[in-house]
Amino acid sequence: MTEHRQELEETARAMVAKGQGILAADESTGTMTKRLEKVGVESNEETRRTFRELLVTTPNAGDKISGVILYDETIKQKTSDGKPFPEMLQEVGIIPGIKVDTGAKPLAGSDEEKVTEGLDGLRERFEEYKELGARFAKWRGVINIGDGKPTDYAIHVNAHALARYAALAQEAGIVPIVEPEVMMDGDHTIDVAEEATGRTLEGVFRELELQQIHLPGMVLKPNMVLAGYECPDQPSAEEVAERTINLFRGIVPEEVPGIAFLSGGQTDEQAAANLSAMNNVEDLPWEITFSYGRALIGSPLKVWSGEEDNIQKAQEAFAHRAKCNAAARQGEYSEDMEKELVA
Ligand code: 13P
Repeated sequence: MTEHRQELEETARAMVAKGQGILAADESTGTMTKRLEKVGVESNEETRRTFRELLVTTPNAGDKISGVILYDETIKQKTSDGKPFPEMLQEVGIIPGIKVDTGAKPLAGSDEEKVTEGLDGLRERFEEYKELGARFAKWRGVINIGDGKPTDYAIHVNAHALARYAALAQEAGIVPIVEPEVMMDGDHTIDVAEEATGRTLEGVFRELELQQIHLPGMVLKPNMVLAGYECPDQPSAEEVAERTINLFRGIVPEEVPGIAFLSGGQTDEQAAANLSAMNNVEDLPWEITFSYGRALIGSPLKVWSGEEDNIQKAQEAFAHRAKCNAAARQGEYSEDMEKELVA
């Protein structure tokens, strides 16, 4: 890893550069199929390719998007003018990344908890992905809140796997995005989410330290501290921001260059407003940005709905979400910005 230190640090800093954020376009085929079918589009290699091409070829996407997380299928596909996706991205100044985990599976001996798989053969896969042009990677651990959950057991095994993945990524000169996601499912209060997120992050940073991860060469991708979807008492953006940043200050070392939040099923407006409020907290020790999936692709997917004629409008919808979140990443988002998109 020592030989790659400088490269890792430079890539990590570029991923969390001011005024930009990351697009997570790395849905597994199963998840992408659900998303496509929801808007009436059949899921096949070609429709998945077409939609992802539409996103990344949006004019000036590289102004607001620093990096794109690709899925195994996409990193090996070509755009319609015959260029491999990673090459096309590099040409417009976007860093290509790759999701390398193979999904969250039921955790033995624990009801309704999960552990993420994908470590076997990962060293060799990193070599292949590096050849294909990937400069960063992603691995997501899933932590559920519920009666007696998350257990220390689930936190430990997920943190351990995240750190093993991160060590292998850095060995290959690839920046690991370390993503422990405490889910919003349920009716839990923000207090409960804060406690679960705190224990999860502590577990993750303990393992990252044990496994000697070079912190300036990684990016953290966590959930914000939020109440469950079904909780009647929903916090304001200011409360989310205060709670999240205060909690993170005590756990996330300042050597980590940036925190790129996931959207986790928030509405487009909430994801932007919460990110903006966090960027307005004083004296932030890290860059605070986004690595959104749904909050970036939801609206363009709906506008496109599989129709060639809708591509331009879909790109406009994507550019709008990218612009709103890039503004939020600077603390400059307001709901008035939503009126700027003429449908
Ligand atoms: P969401 O922003 O939709 O949560 O997706 C981000 C992601 O990459 C989840 O792994």
